[in-house]
Amino acid sequence: MAIENASFPTDAWPEYAMAAELASPHGRYIVDEEDGIRGYAGLRHLAGGADSDVQTIAVAAEARGQGLGRRLLRELLETARERNAREVFLEVRADNPVAQGLYESEGFVEIGRRARYYQPDDVDAVIMKCDLRRIA
Ligand SMILES: CC(C)(COP(=O)(O)OP(=O)(O)OC[C@H]1O[C@@H](n2cnc3c(N)ncnc32)[C@H](O)[C@@H]1OP(=O)(O)O)[C@@H](O)C(=O)NCCC(=O)NCCS
Repeated sequence: MAIENASFPTDAWPEYAMAAELASPHGRYIVDEEDGIRGYAGLRHLAGGADSDVQTIAVAAEARGQGLGRRLLRELLETARERNAREVFLEVRADNPVAQGLYESEGFVEIGRRARYYQPDDVDAVIMKCDLRRIA
């Protein structure tokens, strides 16, 4: 929660929502640990479904820029593949070019926008999709 609150100052998940995500049978959460938690990421996939969603990904500020975010994302994509998903979706703030750059470099493309989705900041959501059949 410390990383969550620091990473998403205006729209962090409350603790109960994070706990519900971790308890859900429909997801897989992974954690990078070295002398404490450095980052985490989660995927939602319903059994038998053809698609998955990246629910969240965050790396502690002091551990960013060292490849941890990419490793976490790749692990989620691998999980989606193992569960026979064909596509992975996510939403990212339009004012978050760092995350968008990471997603694009792993094969995600923008497929739409949701105007003013992030409140109270009034920031659009960029909807992105990764077609797992198109990348090796
Ligand atoms: C997005 C986030 C998870 C990336 O984690 P990270 O460990 O720093 O990322 P990596 O070191 O693996 O870098 C992966 C790519 O991200 C982008 N990136 C990372 N740091 C960047 C920076 N300072 N400026 C621009 N792009 C950057 C680059 O595309 C980079 O690829 P490259 O190294 O080949 O150039 C991290 O910045 C974070 O936790 N941000 C706050 C939470 C957040 O915005 N989560 C996403 C919500 S949708």
